[in-house]
Amino acid sequence: MQNNSKTKIFAIIGYPLKYTISPKVHNAAFEHSGYNARYVALKIPPEYFKKEIMRLKQSDIAGFNVTIPYKEAIIPLLDGLSCEAKTIGAVNIVVVKKRKFIGYNTDGEGFLRSLKDKKISPKGKRIICLGAGGAARAVVWALAKEGASKITIANRTKVRVKKLVLEFRRKFTKCAFRVIDFKAAHLEEGIANSDILINTTSVGMNPSDTLLLRPEWLKRGLIVYDIIYKDTPLIKAAKRCGLVVINGLGMFIHQAALSFKLWTGQKAPVAVMRRAVMRDI
Ligand code: ATR
Repeated sequence: MQNNSKTKIFAIIGYPLKYTISPKVHNAAFEHSGYNARYVALKIPPEYFKKEIMRLKQSDIAGFNVTIPYKEAIIPLLDGLSCEAKTIGAVNIVVVKKRKFIGYNTDGEGFLRSLKDKKISPKGKRIICLGAGGAARAVVWALAKEGASKITIANRTKVRVKKLVLEFRRKFTKCAFRVIDFKAAHLEEGIANSDILINTTSVGMNPSDTLLLRPEWLKRGLIVYDIIYKDTPLIKAAKRCGLVVINGLGMFIHQAALSFKLWTGQKAPVAVMRRAVMRDI
């Protein structure tokens, strides 16, 4: 589709945003639906973050996705939040209504839909989650909402995970939350006492990244989920152990489809979006 004066501009903002498949997926969806829009990647260094968001508010941007490391940092700069985004404490999509920036979260629901696709229910499950950033908040919210019995969280920066758990304990009183140190002995014990291991950290995104844990800790029967949308060292190690593995592709597609619906009001062409990703990875 040719761009013209009526073409709406959508974007993904993040940093370093080295590699993102979001423009491919959303442009394929716009093209297929005949929706007059383009989707671009906007790399914003942390020192310019606030200034750039203010500049975007003066622009004609129609909406944008938010990724690492801004899913929490964007919140004070918004004009409103959906109930879900407020409870989660992270935003991955902004809808622009009359020049007002309204934050939503489709990561949590996208994550749940990806589990449903695999016929896995969090109800009564013991989960160990690595990471406590914006994506972790959405994942933990989804698991607690769906009745996980226990969620153990380990994060490199302890104050961040403590804050997350303090907030979520108040919101989900039936789920047991536990914080453990991001250290070998604690991780090994945490994994041994869990049914599902979820990596929400960014470790595994870069080709040079190594495993955050030891393969021998991956016990039989454990389900291993990495929210990164390609096969990371963790997914590869779990596959070698013969475990059920899930990468972040399903979550990515579902959150993108939910974003498309919020922006356009139309049902997302999920199969087209999935094909666009498959061509690229
Ligand atoms: P996202 O929005 O994708 O969650 P984020 O909010 O920047 O991105 O969070 C990134 C997560 O990856 C955090 O849990 C981060 O840990 P810190 O809170 O200690 O920063 C984690 N992470 C990033 N690099 C890491 C590394 N090298 N080792 C362990 N954890 C790492």
